[in-house]
Amino acid sequence: MSIWQDLPKHFLALAPMEGVTDVVFRQVVAKAGKPDLFFTEFTNVSSFASEKGRDNALERLDTVESDHPIIAQIWGKNPEHFAYLAQHLEELNFQGLDINMGCPDKHVIKAGGGSAMIENPDLAIKCIKEAKTNTTLPVSVKTRLGYSKIDEYKTWLPLLLEQDLANLTVHLRTRKEMSKVSAHFELIPEIIKLRNGIAPHTKLTINGDIADKAHAKKIWQQYPEVDGIMIGRGVFANPYCFTSHTPTKEDLLELFNYHLDLFQARQEELAARGSHYPFAPIKHFIKIYINGSENSKIFRSELMNCKDIEEIKLLIERGAQAAAVRPLGRVSEAKH
Ligand SMILES: Cc1cc2nc3c(=O)[nH]c(=O)nc-3n(C[C@H](O)[C@H](O)[C@H](O)COP(=O)(O)O)c2cc1C
Repeated sequence: MSIWQDLPKHFLALAPMEGVTDVVFRQVVAKAGKPDLFFTEFTNVSSFASEKGRDNALERLDTVESDHPIIAQIWGKNPEHFAYLAQHLEELNFQGLDINMGCPDKHVIKAGGGSAMIENPDLAIKCIKEAKTNTTLPVSVKTRLGYSKIDEYKTWLPLLLEQDLANLTVHLRTRKEMSKVSAHFELIPEIIKLRNGIAPHTKLTINGDIADKAHAKKIWQQYPEVDGIMIGRGVFANPYCFTSHTPTKEDLLELFNYHLDLFQARQEELAARGSHYPFAPIKHFIKIYINGSENSKIFRSELMNCKDIEEIKLLIERGAQAAAVRPLGRVSEAKH
């Protein structure tokens, strides 16, 4: 039975986000409140197929028990490499394979992958076919409405729906729009109509500007035929976005500490494997946990100057002590 059939009628998914939704952050989201489905950040099929890129690709494909069910998202332009990676995903403990055909990043497009596939539909179909023939896992696609014009969805989405996919995720913008305009929610009824007419068995997941579970519920009230809702940047505003819980400052601080512990453990794990888990990216996450006041802004800038996880932990501990006498924020005085 495919994971897509096992999901609730209406399901929430954590969006794949490069540099964000790795095995560490997925565990953080799982602790705050699990979505029904996880996606990895995307892995390049040609990296996996090359001796030089294999270890890095495998690191991206690490999972743990708490981030399941999980779909591996992959990208590239070489059909043989799609076939090769597809052959290995089941043994790597994935429940599905998702092909990225929407990434707007110029390096990805230059490499012929992501949303470049929208402009190269023959190759897109070939890659889907190679993936499908080489795995028993369900194959899905995540894409945008079109490359430069919104109307492209009228031909591009039918083409994908004809490929007998397990799920089609539509980010409701074109490549050209990047994330600069609001998602085109007004097109949902048209997209449902296309799915119902061409591939009623293919699940339809909608993505773009959906903040949290409450927001998703409103969309389902209006459009009950949408199966899945995928949330990406909503986790930055609220890591508990897959639940109905409004986190307190204490919840967020506890979650931050959990993140830091996992981060440190991952650094040690990868070092033991002869690899490296860089420190700097943790700084992208600080605002998730420390926000909401002028004091937290000051505290954040102090945290940004830290050189390693231990230093961050120490500063947070002092910050928590200082918060006992004043609102969580300025810690510099507490150092003395
Ligand atoms: C930092 C970042 C990295 C992303 N990386 C990926 C990726 O690896 N694969 C993908 O399909 N989409 C990627 N996306 C796009 C998101 O999955 C999602 O489609 C987009 O953010 C819109 O949804 P949202 O408004 O809920 O964030 C990324 C987005 C962000 C902000």
